[in-house]
Amino acid sequence: MKVLKAVKPTSEQLIVINDIRPWITLIRGAAGSGKTSTALLRLKFLMAYWSQRVNDRHVAPPIRVLVLTFNRTLRGYIAELAADQAGKAGAVVEIRTFGQWSSELATSHSRLADDDRTRLVQKEGFAIGLDPIFLSDEVDYVLGRFQPDKIDDYITVRREGRGASPSVDSALRRRIISEVIGPYQAIKARRNVVDWNDMAVQLSRERRHAPYHIIIVDETQEFSANQMRAVLNHADDDATITLVMDAAQRIYPRGFTWAEVGVRLDPHSSYLLMENHRNTKQIVAFCRSLLAGLEMTADGIIPSPDNINREGPPPILVPGRFGRQMDYVVEKLKQVRSINQSAAILHARGGGWFNGVRTRLGRARIPFIELTREHDWPKDDAEVALSTMASAKGLEFDHVFVVGLNEELTPHGEGEGDSQMEQYRRLLAMAAGRARQSVMLGYKEDEASALIAYIDRSTYELG
Ligand SMILES: Nc1ncnc2c1ncn2[C@@H]1O[C@H](COP(=O)(O)OP(=O)(O)OP(=O)(O)O)[C@@H](O)[C@H]1O
Ligand SMILES: [Mg+2]
Repeated sequence: MKVLKAVKPTSEQLIVINDIRPWITLIRGAAGSGKTSTALLRLKFLMAYWSQRVNDRHVAPPIRVLVLTFNRTLRGYIAELAADQAGKAGAVVEIRTFGQWSSELATSHSRLADDDRTRLVQKEGFAIGLDPIFLSDEVDYVLGRFQPDKIDDYITVRREGRGASPSVDSALRRRIISEVIGPYQAIKARRNVVDWNDMAVQLSRERRHAPYHIIIVDETQEFSANQMRAVLNHADDDATITLVMDAAQRIYPRGFTWAEVGVRLDPHSSYLLMENHRNTKQIVAFCRSLLAGLEMTADGIIPSPDNINREGPPPILVPGRFGRQMDYVVEKLKQVRSINQSAAILHARGGGWFNGVRTRLGRARIPFIELTREHDWPKDDAEVALSTMASAKGLEFDHVFVVGLNEELTPHGEGEGDSQMEQYRRLLAMAAGRARQSVMLGYKEDEASALIAYIDRSTYELG
């Protein structure tokens, strides 16, 4: 599997790489603009800077470096990249997902399993009558955004990043706090268990690791406010912190303002990368149409074909039974493999949903790896990866096949601006945006996900 290659930074990237101003540097940009690459080149530069400070005896060794990524797969991916850059003497480099980092540092309590958490929240909130997935996301959002003693701030605040529908007025918010969040917190206390957010809260209040000198957070848009507070609580006073983000690619129910986490962004340390180094114009036009009309803060960038030189074939939609979709995939994979290119077969869910794909690839003798299950970025040279769309975040492949995009896999509400539908639109645009050369999207014709209708018809062809 190919990792991000060594690149020669462009002039817009160089400015970011060489900025040694202390505290926070924000790197924004659309998918494929080289945010992660730039952050890692910056890491190399900052390591040299901090080594110099150690040599000058301004700082006692070791230099402590923390690189946080959002999922396990990406952790492995970045580890490969960082290995040659960061293996300098006198530095201790930790590359973690936030989950790993927080469970290593927080006081060990048993953690409530994610499924149990969802079930508990949905059971407590049944009487409220909200869609159960929406409710569980909303609770996740509220607990992640506010400190436990300030949960009531939720009643009046603007629900950044949560869509317009269903609307959640202040009366409903009070009910969510008193009928769901209150009982949920009480049950955890009674059972003596914690959830992910409790660990973040603990780390935002207690320093449980010596402060880091260099911190890089990739995919910052997936961090809750409490997670961000936890990270900042572990930064050295002089730390150089790089936050990489694109809210247009956010796939979790998250959102906060910088002020809420105590960050005052210096406009001079906030960068926007414009050039797209990954996609073709055709792929970007396709992704862009999925994002059109979504509310976007300054931290979310809608990709634009104007920032790309490269052209390629338009994305292909393949309606039909799963077998027909896989015929297309297998045929294309044979060509791709013969020219040593990489490909990902993505699905909304993964797990058992991939059985048909596994069987079919096995029969065609096409080797593959499963990213979702890997602890680290795979080291073997198989060129075909199977993954959920979510776990492909931050990665890239020459060819992307999204299969089985049927309505049952994208349950959503009805209203204009439905928050779940908006989440899927960002998810699919992000997933298609993994592709360097081509995109294929397959679905059962009479059961197509409502998502398909959001794609501008002029940006794809039917296969
Ligand atoms: N200066 C450059 N010259 C050539 N290629 C580059 C340059 N910078 C980045 N790239 C390439 O562009 C692609 C995208 O880079 P990267 O993954 O860092 O983007 P990103 O902004 O982090 O994307 P995402 O939002 O999807 O995570 C990679 O293949 C990378 O090697
Ligand atoms: Mg990235």
